Amino acid sequence: MVVSAPGGDYALAQLAAPLPIADLTPGGGPWEVEIGFGKGRYLLRRCLEHPERRFAGIEQVAEYHRRFVSRARRRGAPNWLALRGEALYLLASVLPRGFAAAVHVYFPDPWPKARHHKRRLFDAETVDLVIGLLAPGGRLYFATDFLDYGELVLELLATLGVALVAVGVGLRLVFGDVTLAAGLTALLLAPDIFILLVRLVMDKDVPRRARWLIGGAIAYWISPIDLLPELFLGPIGYLDDLVVAVAVLSQVFTGDLEPYARKHWTGRQDLHVVLHDISAAARTLLGPAVHDRLKRLLARQGITLDDTRSPKGGGPPPA
Ligand SMILES: C[S@@+](CC[C@H](N)C(=O)[O-])C[C@H]1O[C@@H](n2cnc3c(N)ncnc32)[C@H](O)[C@@H]1O
Repeated sequence: MVVSAPGGDYALAQLAAPLPIADLTPGGGPWEVEIGFGKGRYLLRRCLEHPERRFAGIEQVAEYHRRFVSRARRRGAPNWLALRGEALYLLASVLPRGFAAAVHVYFPDPWPKARHHKRRLFDAETVDLVIGLLAPGGRLYFATDFLDYGELVLELLATLGVALVAVGVGLRLVFGDVTLAAGLTALLLAPDIFILLVRLVMDKDVPRRARWLIGGAIAYWISPIDLLPELFLGPIGYLDDLVVAVAVLSQVFTGDLEPYARKHWTGRQDLHVVLHDISAAARTLLGPAVHDRLKRLLARQGITLDDTRSPKGGGPPPA
């Protein structure tokens, strides 16, 4: 196992445990960790774009580790640490606890066979190692294209009491803004929301005005050019589509229309809770600038982007 920093490479045995990360990468900025950084493009980009932060990457493939280290040195980045080795071992025995403002885990190996599940980064027996990296209020960013794995991660985080805003996009899942504060319900729902829009618009019994509005939300969703263009941003670009869909559904999903929405809803969670949670998280998900522009855009169509709405029946959604 090797630890590389801008100043040199070290065998793990040369260093104290927990690793003296601040000596290896001085600077004082908050830390972010990426586990399984692969070819390291994301990690390097973050290092270069955020010189005020420090980044620790973990990767077990020697070639990928070497490639990241040589690129980071060539670019003169001073704010990184790259650990080559098995992540679970490094988390358990080498890295300090509770030091990271953010942890990124993108497309980790899913280990689909049940007998291999304990090798996963997120498993009942290992999840606390990953979460344990986070400082209070830290954030976990996670993406997978294995739906089953994504759902399991949601369940694990919920059992740990980790508050979560999660958004599923097609087969890719982007779980943004996992904070260690208090209780939002997990959302994993973009596919279900999209199916609901399509089914409602095709249901001739749904009043025309509602279908017209829902059709507008579908048009916005499938258009590659909008406030967050998915063409350039990838899955994140669907967040505004999701928020528009939820605003429209919240507006039409009242009174007489409720039975139609219930009939066509394929999600497992209560639709009211889902709409509430996405609405409530809209500002966090989109950032204030995009959120406010979207709010104005929707207002011009007579739709309120209400991020203060309570779910039907009052009270907070279940954690
Ligand atoms: C599917 S790739 C994803 C790479 C990158 N995060 C991305 O999104 O493109 C998973 C990466 O995690 C690394 N990895 C998987 N399990 C690991 C472990 N237990 N310890 C360290 N790295 C691991 C693999 O070597 C591989 O580079």
